[in-house]
Amino acid sequence: MKRDTFGSRLGILAAAAGSAIGLGNIWKFPYITGKNGGAAFILVYLVCITLIGLPVMVSEFVLGRKTQANAVGAFKKIEPRKPWFLSGYLATLTAFIILSYYTMIAGWILSYIGRAATGKLVSIEAANLGAYFESIIGGTFEPLLCTFVIIVLTAIIVISGIKDGVEKYCKILMPVLLGLLILLMFRSLTLEGASKGIEFLFKPDFSQLTTQSVLEALGHSFFTLSLGMGIILTYGSYIDKNENIINLAIQVTIADTVIALMAGLVIFPAVFAYGLEPGQGAGLIFITLPAVFREMPFGTFFGALFFTLIGIAALTSTISLLEVIVSFAIEEFNMHRKKATILVSTAIFLLAIPSVLSFGLWSNITILGKTFFGWFDFLTSNVLLAVGGILVCIFVGWVWGTKNAIAEITSDGQYQFKQQGLYSFIIRFLAPAAILLILLNSTGILSK
Ligand code: PHE
Ligand code: NA
Repeated sequence: MKRDTFGSRLGILAAAAGSAIGLGNIWKFPYITGKNGGAAFILVYLVCITLIGLPVMVSEFVLGRKTQANAVGAFKKIEPRKPWFLSGYLATLTAFIILSYYTMIAGWILSYIGRAATGKLVSIEAANLGAYFESIIGGTFEPLLCTFVIIVLTAIIVISGIKDGVEKYCKILMPVLLGLLILLMFRSLTLEGASKGIEFLFKPDFSQLTTQSVLEALGHSFFTLSLGMGIILTYGSYIDKNENIINLAIQVTIADTVIALMAGLVIFPAVFAYGLEPGQGAGLIFITLPAVFREMPFGTFFGALFFTLIGIAALTSTISLLEVIVSFAIEEFNMHRKKATILVSTAIFLLAIPSVLSFGLWSNITILGKTFFGWFDFLTSNVLLAVGGILVCIFVGWVWGTKNAIAEITSDGQYQFKQQGLYSFIIRFLAPAAILLILLNSTGILSK
């Protein structure tokens, strides 16, 4: 079977940026930036992204491109005699679990798009918005249906393959996302009192910066670039040998960072202009922002646009997650793309059910104090992503060897790579050590 490939450079960029740009940028980045003292945190975050995130992304790209294989096949091809392929299984498993709850959250957004567009959302009293959110996600039929719809949309795109599916749709969706973001940013920045939000985001306050915030910045730089679960590796396997990987990785990283900053410029000026609290976690987009749209002129319109924006961001990320698992099924089990996609999507929906019910019917079922969703989230975000990241660094740095990686990065000498010494040092020593710190911190071992 001939492998599908990306058709154009722009298409690769749209797909990889589409994966990177997601809930992490539009919801999580603004929120953790606010919590950790604004501009000072952003500086640390930029250092983490450049020093750790970027080199790891380059490594995942070349691992995929060199082997032209899925996450499991890539390890098998380079090291057929040792059990390194298990790290491919781990990455695929991580993608599988994340996808099961990421589609649920995307489903909530779908619920909100409908309610925002029909004007229902702006009719809810600000004080009741929290309870309203809980009643929506605590339901059974609607959240399951919305999760199902998201999975079907994702599957339809993935079934069409790389060039005619993933690439084609990302090339349409990403510009739409950018357009919506610019429009909303303009709206937010022209509100009276917007400057307080800008200050909150950009005025450095180093006093709130702790070791904890540095680790949070590090952890987020990994999540936000979609590293550690075989996504970038899989996309790399569809890239042409003559493509300049370094440039590509830099562009994806810049795009991801710029979008995160823009999202901050949409959210905080509006939140402060209406005298609301910058909020916490999930509440920021589902509870605080609807209160903003309530007050804002044409709030129904802007609210619907905002939730559509996040919906698109989430969809281009679910596509990349599904592609990791589908390419694994196609190549390791010799399946047709269509059959593989349908099978995997069905399994994803089944696994999504316990997550969905964690907020309603099954909210009382807990294991060691965590619901099903709580466990899926903890395991993936706090453990598996970091383990996957360390394994990639060790594999590229010590097993395959940075010399071979650099040959692939430069397309066998076609491109210059001046920082190769630094790159080797980071992949072999700095990145694995830093990720190990994230792991110890996020599992609570460090704080004991
Ligand atoms: N990079 C995505 C974001 O910032 C998150 C993501 C993680 C997407 C894992 C896909 C897989 O939201
Ligand atoms: Na991101």
